[in-house]
This record gives sequence, C-alpha cells and structure tokens, in this order.
Amino acid sequence: MYRTYTCGELRLSDAGKSVTLAGWVQRTRKMGGMTFVDLRDRYGITQLVFDENTNAELCEQANKLGREFVIQIKGVVNERYSKNANMPTGDIEIMVSELNVLNTSLTPPFTIEDNTDGGDDIRMKYRYLDLRRNAVRANLELRHKMAFEVRSYLDKHGFLEVETPVLIGSTPEGARDFVVPSRMNPGQFYALPQSPQTLKQLLMVAGFDRYFQIVKCFRDEDLRADRQPEFTQIDCEMSFVEQEDILTLFEGMAKHLFKTIRNIDIKEAFPRMTWHDAMKYYGSDKPDTRFDMKFVELMDILKGYGFGVFDNAEYIGGICAKGAAVYTRKQIDQLTDFVKRPQIGAKGLVYARVEADGTVKSSVDKFYSQDVLQKMKAAFGAEAGDLILILSGDDTMKTRKQLCELRLEVASQLGLRDKDKFACLWVVDFPMYEWSEEEGRLMAMHHPFTSPKPEDIPLLDTDPASVRANAYDMVINGVEVGGGSIRIHDSQLQAKIFKILGFTPEKAQAQFGFLMNAFKYGAPPHGGLAYGLDRWVSLFAGLDSIRDCIAFPKNTSGRDVMLDAPSYLAQEQLEELTLQVVEKK
Ligand code: AMO
Repeated sequence: MYRTYTCGELRLSDAGKSVTLAGWVQRTRKMGGMTFVDLRDRYGITQLVFDENTNAELCEQANKLGREFVIQIKGVVNERYSKNANMPTGDIEIMVSELNVLNTSLTPPFTIEDNTDGGDDIRMKYRYLDLRRNAVRANLELRHKMAFEVRSYLDKHGFLEVETPVLIGSTPEGARDFVVPSRMNPGQFYALPQSPQTLKQLLMVAGFDRYFQIVKCFRDEDLRADRQPEFTQIDCEMSFVEQEDILTLFEGMAKHLFKTIRNIDIKEAFPRMTWHDAMKYYGSDKPDTRFDMKFVELMDILKGYGFGVFDNAEYIGGICAKGAAVYTRKQIDQLTDFVKRPQIGAKGLVYARVEADGTVKSSVDKFYSQDVLQKMKAAFGAEAGDLILILSGDDTMKTRKQLCELRLEVASQLGLRDKDKFACLWVVDFPMYEWSEEEGRLMAMHHPFTSPKPEDIPLLDTDPASVRANAYDMVINGVEVGGGSIRIHDSQLQAKIFKILGFTPEKAQAQFGFLMNAFKYGAPPHGGLAYGLDRWVSLFAGLDSIRDCIAFPKNTSGRDVMLDAPSYLAQEQLEELTLQVVEKK
C-alpha cells in the first residue's frame, strides 16, 4: 500500500498510530538536530519529523530532499509540541522511521505557494505545477461540485444527458467556426460546434422531451476575461414548454446552485427587465444590478441653453454617484481620461457636484442657471454630497454604452461591486435582429432558430428590426451566465426568418435543410437555454477571469502555451489532407 492516510486527514485523535503517507515535499527546514518536512497532497499538508539522535542516516536522507520530490514515509503520529492552528493537521506530526524517494524533481520554476512568485506566462507553461497550488485546485474542485449539482438537479427534473457529436457542420451563434479538415472527404471541413443548438432541437423532434449536456463549445472570437475559445455549456432543451416554464425551471437550478454551493437561500423570484429597459437605464444587456445608479436622460432639461456639445447631441444622459462629491478635480480628470480612452471613445465628461447647501456646481455652469441645475438634480433625486456625471453624443446606443462603462468604473471605485454579493436578473424580450455594420445586414441577435413574439410576427414583413424575440438571458453581477429562447418549430416560419437574415432558399437549404426537413416530421413546440459553466464557477469563486477555473486554458492569443498549440503541420500531413498553407498578405 502506498499510503494508509492522505496528508490532510490525521488529527490528534490519531496520536500513536503507525501510518504510511505519500506526497510531494513542499519544503524542508533544519532546526538543530531535527529536520522538518511539509508533505503535501491534494488533501492537505502534514508535518514530518526526522530526528538526528534516533536515526542519523534517515535524517541525512531527509536533508537531501528537494522541493517537489515525491516520497513515501512510514512513521508514528505524535502530538505536536508547538501546534499550528492554521492547519487542519496542525496538532500532529509524524515521527518518521522509513523514507522512500518515489521520484525526484527539478526545482520548479516558481514556488508552489498560495502567493507564488511565478508570473502568468510561466505558470501557464507549467500549468501542471500551477495546478498543485491550493487556489487553482480549489477552483477545479468547485467546478466538479457545481457540475455534480447541475446533474443532480436536472436528473431530478427528468432530463436525459445525451452526447452530441463534435465533428459537425456549422452552427451559427455569431462567432467564427473552428474547422477540421476531413482526410476522407478531400477539400471538405467539419466545423466544431459553437453550441449543440441544432442537434438539441433535433433531439426534441426525436421526442427526447428534456435534454441536457455538459458540453464543450468552440468559438473563434476575440478573447476577453469571460471568454475562452473552448468553453463549457450546461446545454438544455425542453419540449411542450413556454418561456415561463423555462424561466421557472432554470431559475430553480440557479437557486439550487446558490444553496448547495454557496449556502445562499434566495426565496424571492429573480427580477425581470426588458432588453429595452436594460439598454435605457444601464446601457447594457447585462446590467450589474448589485447597485443602482440608473441612467437619467437629460435631453429635455439640458438642451437649448447655448452649450453646443449638448445642443447638438442626440443623447444626453448621466448617473448620480452617491456621496462622490468628495471626488477631487484630479479624480474627475482621471474619469475623463477613462471615458476618452479609444476603447470607450467618449469626447468628454461633464460633472456637477451637489454642495452641502443643496446648490449644484457644474463644470458647465456658465451655460446653466441654478434653476436648470436644480431641475437636473431633481431628475436624479440627488442630494447634498452626490456627484452627477454626464455624457452626451450623437449616437444614442453608443453613448449609452460609454455611460455604462463609466457607471461600472465609478461603482468599482466606490466599492459597490462586492464579489460576495449577488444580484440575479432575467433580461427578456430581446430584439430578434440587430444591424451589423460589418455585414451590412440584419443579424439574429440570439440565433436564427429563435422564435419571434407571436404578437410581433406581422412586423416581420413591415419592420423586422422592431420584432421582439422569445429570448432571455440570465445575468448575475453584470455577467451573462446563460441565455436561451423559445424556438421556431415551423419549417415555413423558419424559412422566412432565414430569408430576412439574407439567406437565399438554396443557401438555407444547403446549410439548414436537415433542420427544416426535420420540422416537417412533427416537431413539438420547444425551447431551451444554455448556461456557461465557466462563468458560473468563476462567479462563485470570485475570479476575475474564467481562465482560472479551467484546467488547461488558452491565453489571450488563443494559444495553449504548455502544449505549444496551435502549431504548423508537417508537409506530409498537409498533403494527406489536400491542404496548402498560403502566407497571409
Ligand atoms: P449563447 O451563445 O448565449 O447561447 O451561449 C450560452 C452561454 O454560454 C456562455 N458563453 C461563453 N462562455 C465562455 N466563453 C465563451 N466564448 C462563451 N460564449 C458563450 C455564456 C452564454 O450565456 N445555443 C444557445 C443557447 C440556447 O439558445 O439554448 C447559445 O449557445 O454564459
């Protein structure tokens, strides 16, 4: 037997027992005639003691142990003289009588400690060492537990886990596909699923009724803190349901996760907000509602007083930061620089402080009387000590997005984005379409299989851009943790939607003929949702990036630096696949 106990298991009640342990050498310390070794495994750390006086040879061997050597020891559990209350095993130590070195180790390129000295790149290159660190391991343990609770909840509600293929055709979700060449079909490519969307719909046609899958999805898109090119969805689909049934069931799952993982009881129903209101009041379809700071539109109040910037603006809107009148000129200048950064693109920032006596002092005082400023103050419900921040622009949507960035930045500065506080929200009634500047056409906002609201169907012919969809997202703390829709189950309506999206009937048939044909064989009404597992885990673990809850993530250039992938193919392999690499001009 390699071990009789793990390194996290032994307690004072085990004193006197003869035990065998195995693990990694965290560190060794020599103190007088004693050598202490911290032995680590996944479960914890146990202190080993080698005594020169009882066994000089053994102690000599222990002194030669390097960091991360893999060893096995036999010994007796002793009560510790100086206990360590910070460690679960801190009351005991093992008096070692036998030591076997199972493997040596090179000196690791960074310390395997909670506060490691290793930078990002080096830790990713040696991810297997990074994964030995407590924090990273804890994230993966949490991930396991969450996936387990997801399966338990869905199983209880009659869902079947069905695997769908990874080598498929294109499944448009708005990103680019990763493609895989087919040797047996020269010149042809599989696409990796951006999600199993069409397949889960086919499972509904097949009568599976309640499907789920914890599944890898692949999207070739620019990476951000909450995006990886391959990520994991909790993908679900149900038949004979309406939107309300889906929201209820998956809100239940969210509450189940909050309870079982974070021990948070959420009794009340999650608030719901239309997409229209989310954009109007927060400038985002995933508002962070841990704090208020709603937008107030000021066009009616501030236009027409000779301040050109506002007079010529299509949109003027602001936020009121409670208690932030104490912001110094320098802090406000920094906020101005923040909104002017090219990624945000505002031209400038107007501010107004509510003074202790209730008067308002603004950066554009010369254009506005105290009367007008008081009207503005009232519109915000602002009080003494508050700071009003205003942006304007000639494109309402763009300016709202800028104001959204400002709102989040100010809230972060004011400490309003506490990671241990959770604000859950359904955003509903998304538009069916959004205009794509890049493509010069309407694109499906969710995906092309989403059904329009029945009352908006007549608008498909007259004003498609105003049609609302039966689509919904769950948002927690400003993170979109999931989204879904009621699907179209009628082949004719589906064909019409493809037409509006600019597909010719031939192209729609070539790409989605399988689905439209399936719909002709008795497709039940159906709908579903997919949660992003990585995002759920990182929310619950309080992580800044989903990367930290993925065992082997990609870096921001989409590379796996440990495996050094992607990489070039050998000429023979290219030839076998009838591929030729052409230099990008
Ligand atoms: P959607 O595209 O909204 O919907 O994706 C569902 C959820 O998956 C997560 N997610 C991601 N997580 C990490 N990295 C990414 N690159 C990434 N992209 C998406 C998000 C998101 O809410 N087929 C539909 C679902 C449906 O309609 O049932 C779909 O994929 O948390």
